[in-house]
Amino acid sequence: MNIRKTSAGRVFVLFIVFLLLSTETIPMASAATVSVIVHNNVTYTSRPLLVHCWSSDDDVGGKYVSFGVEYTFDFEPVLTGDKKTKYWCNLEPDASWQAYFVAWEHGYGGGDGIAPYYWYAGDDAVHGRKDSATCDDSYTWEWKHK
Ligand SMILES: *[C@@H]1O[C@H](CO)[C@@H](O)[C@H](O)[C@H]1NC(C)=O
Repeated sequence: MNIRKTSAGRVFVLFIVFLLLSTETIPMASAATVSVIVHNNVTYTSRPLLVHCWSSDDDVGGKYVSFGVEYTFDFEPVLTGDKKTKYWCNLEPDASWQAYFVAWEHGYGGGDGIAPYYWYAGDDAVHGRKDSATCDDSYTWEWKHK
């Protein structure tokens, strides 16, 4: 008996071919992507906020973020083992003040710990939030010329 000879058999063979092709071309469950968002809400200076974020193996680079603008960077975090992903950011509203803090590690954002995480740089401090209602963490500006 040859299943290729019947039309049901042909459909079956095509279905198997489709399954084999789809596992080749469609990526299997890819790692989650996490976004960290930094809002510039600093009003005391008209200078754009200098935002520089990095992890042990990824330097996102320094970016100037204008007032009212949100700057986003994305990454695929490693959540287990010795090389768990952790990002730091240094923010400078001008040449004299800075805030340096852990911007993301697993658990930020609540839930499964891989939700987007928001930092609002304001005149008083940098406030970390998982949503608009909460403030989980604050880092005050530090004088650079100690
Ligand atoms: C932005 O800054 C203003 C003035 O300091 C403040 O009232 C407001 O709550 C800030 N907005 C956010 C989203 O943090």
